[in-house]
Amino acid sequence: MRTYLVTGGAGFIGSNYIHYMFKKYDNEIRIINVDVLTYAGNLENLRDVEGRDNYTFIKADICDRDAINKIFEENDIDRVVHFAAESHVDRSIVNPEVFVQTNVLGTATMLNAAKKAWELPDGSFKEGKKFLHVSTDEVYGSLDDDPNAYFYETTPYSPHSPYSASKASSDMLVKAYMDTYKFPANITNCSNNYGPYQFPEKLIPLIINNALAGKDLPVYGDGKNVRDWLYVEDHAKAIDMVQEKGRLFETYNVGGHNEKQNIEIVKTIIDILREELDDSDPRKEKLSYDLIKYVTDRKGHDRRYAIAPDKIKKEVGWEPETMFKEGIRKTIKWYFENTEWMEHVTSGDYEKYYSKMYDNR
Ligand code: NAD
Ligand code: DAU
Repeated sequence: MRTYLVTGGAGFIGSNYIHYMFKKYDNEIRIINVDVLTYAGNLENLRDVEGRDNYTFIKADICDRDAINKIFEENDIDRVVHFAAESHVDRSIVNPEVFVQTNVLGTATMLNAAKKAWELPDGSFKEGKKFLHVSTDEVYGSLDDDPNAYFYETTPYSPHSPYSASKASSDMLVKAYMDTYKFPANITNCSNNYGPYQFPEKLIPLIINNALAGKDLPVYGDGKNVRDWLYVEDHAKAIDMVQEKGRLFETYNVGGHNEKQNIEIVKTIIDILREELDDSDPRKEKLSYDLIKYVTDRKGHDRRYAIAPDKIKKEVGWEPETMFKEGIRKTIKWYFENTEWMEHVTSGDYEKYYSKMYDNR
């Protein structure tokens, strides 16, 4: 049975990936989820896999060399899928250090531990071992409004935010291990994900949550920045396919050609929520475009991201399955049906975070 070590599995994409993998492989695989449970890590995301014999959760920091080495010593790990990171651009602007710590040093710790466990005396690596580093399209910087410009795997790195600079640094470390040691790895650079279990600091769940509470819907700048949205399950599928069918040492961009201006996303959410809410629901009356509030722009705000997914389509055969129209409705329904989940993640420090980021904007 193949054993996966998933880092950051209690976060948004990591938990969706774990669900996807158990749905696909059921008892053919074993997953060890290593997560330190920051504000973004939530074991509620994994309630339905907790009882499985082939699932283990270990609370550990990816920067803790001893703890990570011990996991490799005690388990014969076949695959590492490395999600764990600080992931929010706005937080990185306020507090960059933790991004360097987790995203750069944490990745170095994971690489060293895997190398130590998998390397043979002659410097080659045990057969079949693979490390996948989950990264972002933000490492490529920003495109302008030319609709024919895209991020390719060959696009030079040009990160702008402390978040994207830390992810670019971690990508470079993985590339250095592949080049220097022939360390068996891949990198995936994906566009913006949306779907269930996303923390409401990110645009889509934040807007859904505020809209249902009748609160202002903060739109940065002119609202015309473009993001390329992908349903999270399609990202999970891409990661699995790259590990199974991709060429080792290669980078694959992941995206579904679904560019939208932020203001369009916000209006779509309002429209769908209004359709879904009963006429008798008092939340419906308050919900309109009047809630949209243009606020001070994000510092260094990247204008446009757009992925060219040609390589992953051609070499790996990956195609996205969930189109935006269907995915956004599914996502909104999920947040509707999981109000308790939202209440739990917005209790505690969330209000403090929200005031700090939005009160004087
Ligand atoms: P997230 O913030 O929802 O989850 C991050 C997880 O990592 C959390 O469970 C957190 O507890 C854990 N973590 C943080 N620091 C840790 C540490 N030191 N040790 C162990 N665990 C730690 O993030 P996400 O949106 O699910 O993103 C996951 C990965 O995918 C990140 O590497 C991110 O850069 C990348 N990515 C995200 C997107 C997106 O749209 N969200 C797109 C492309 C790539
Ligand atoms: O492109 C991939 C990246 O997508 C990932 O690497 C990051 O981890 C992930 O957080 C995401 O980054 P973005 O900065 O694009 O996502 P966010 O949801 O924070 O913002 C999306 C867009 O919406 C962006 O242009 C900023 C804008 N925005 C965001 C928030 C939170 C607003 O206008 N208002 C808001 O309140």
